[in-house]
Amino acid sequence: MTEDVETWEKENGVKFLRKVGLRPGQIVLDFGCKVGHYTIPAAFVVGSKGIVYAVDKEQQALNELQQKARANNLKNVKIIKTSGQTMLDFESESIDVVLFYDVLHYLEKSDRKKLYQEVQRVMKQDGFLSVYPKHTVGNDPIQEFRKLSSNDVKREIENLDFYFEEKYCGVISHDDSLNQGCVLNFRKNEDNNCI
Ligand SMILES: C[S@@+](CC[C@H](N)C(=O)[O-])C[C@H]1O[C@@H](n2cnc3c(N)ncnc32)[C@H](O)[C@@H]1O
Repeated sequence: MTEDVETWEKENGVKFLRKVGLRPGQIVLDFGCKVGHYTIPAAFVVGSKGIVYAVDKEQQALNELQQKARANNLKNVKIIKTSGQTMLDFESESIDVVLFYDVLHYLEKSDRKKLYQEVQRVMKQDGFLSVYPKHTVGNDPIQEFRKLSSNDVKREIENLDFYFEEKYCGVISHDDSLNQGCVLNFRKNEDNNCI
């Protein structure tokens, strides 16, 4: 990791996630966290009364995250290794913020749908889902997003009983470097019946 990203995790990444809407005391789920470029700033924002659940299927990346959390004395990071399943092992309406940052392109459409439905279940009614739709058309397209635009991704989330609330742009982390990027925030429709 370059020093730039390491500094970003503790400084501008913290500011960016505050702008996105993270607050002290919240319960955050960082799905597909890898080495925690967003887990670490999220843990700084939510503080000792909050929790960041960091979920990934790659043990090695999670080991690296564990070391970083320890080095930063962040006791509010809870690491969860999965086998890649879309069922989330959390109680209904227990999570304030779900982060899908640079991860949805790994999942086939049917799995993305299951994942959005799980978010409907685990997220509090006043919580929000924040998505960084990287690797879409015109943005280094790969994997399941190679033929989808950022607007297509937005629409598929809206179709699963969310409404788009706001877009936040800035210098953000991608892999082990920094780039200009935007995240999209969604909230649950009030009259949804997916739970
Ligand atoms: C490109 S990285 C993004 C990491 C981080 N969210 C960020 O933006 O810096 C994607 C991560 O998602 C993880 N991932 C992909 N599909 C997953 C799944 N079904 N369940 C859990 N983790 C998954 C990969 O192992 C990888 O670590």
